[in-house]
Amino acid sequence: MMLTSGLRRRSVLAAGAIALPFVSRAQSPMVIKLSHVVAEKTPKGQASLKFKELAEKSLAGKVQVQVFPNSQLFGDAKELEALLLGDVHFIAPSLSKFDRYTKKLQVFDLPFLFDDVAAVDRFQAGPKGQELMKTMTSRGLLGLGYWHNGMKQLSTNKDTLKRPEDVKGLKFRIQPSDVLEAQFRALGANPQKMAFSEVYQALQTGVVDGQENTWSNIYSQKFFEVQKTIAETNHGIIDYMVVTNSKWWDGLPADVRKALAEAMTEATAFGNKLANDFNEGDRKKIADAGKAKIQVLGKDDLAAWKKSMEPVWKKFEGDIGRDLIDAALKSNR
Ligand code: LMR
Repeated sequence: MMLTSGLRRRSVLAAGAIALPFVSRAQSPMVIKLSHVVAEKTPKGQASLKFKELAEKSLAGKVQVQVFPNSQLFGDAKELEALLLGDVHFIAPSLSKFDRYTKKLQVFDLPFLFDDVAAVDRFQAGPKGQELMKTMTSRGLLGLGYWHNGMKQLSTNKDTLKRPEDVKGLKFRIQPSDVLEAQFRALGANPQKMAFSEVYQALQTGVVDGQENTWSNIYSQKFFEVQKTIAETNHGIIDYMVVTNSKWWDGLPADVRKALAEAMTEATAFGNKLANDFNEGDRKKIADAGKAKIQVLGKDDLAAWKKSMEPVWKKFEGDIGRDLIDAALKSNR
């Protein structure tokens, strides 16, 4: 008897539950999750919050955007899979983190390819850059925009960091990119792929000797507190592609998709305008803190770094395609 009434109660509840979604869908907003791995006071952190603000304004009552910074929801290792599983709706991984989905984006990792972020921007805005946002749709990933961070600097726990010979034999944390792995091998160093959230501790405990990153990340993650020297190499870039799950995106009501796309375009422009200032400001804060020395490099030093890293280009040209490399080179003025 108990069992039957229990079942009956459950089926009454279930019947009620069938009617409920229509009521609750009309009343409660759709929850949209955006996850990233950096701090809020970074270009990516600020662009994410801007997106939330704009999307919630234009879709008032219809969507709620939840932003999770600092790998709180998903770290590097999980975020792409989580997006494909539908557990998060937008992520903005660095362009170095798509290796498993396309080889084409490796173009962004080639050392000394872009002179500055303005050149990166021109390349991304051009036909090749725009095409790249659609290269992963067959894998379920759709690019909605490029978000800027900045040029990479090299840091170690050594007093001397001026010439390529100074990093021979040292261990470096890298993002999960084969190009970056080859770059450090070309220098005679030992690269180790590692999630962003683990870098501070790895530097602090000496699991690795150094890393490469933007001023913004070096400051906001406090890497400068556990490194002795930061060489101003500007040898590469860290930039992002905001991606969504293409199936989820295509399944959205047209008006919602349109409003989200507009919010994304505006948030992208907002964040990208901030990126250079963030990096300059954070470089100054690091200099003022006086913990790590900033090693400015002369022309000869930079030429030596460039020469040491050059072999990487040949190695990956086949996978990337000469057309992409040429288009990227043309964006330098
Ligand atoms: C890194 O892993 O070093 C960066 O890609 C982190 C980020 O998202 O800027």
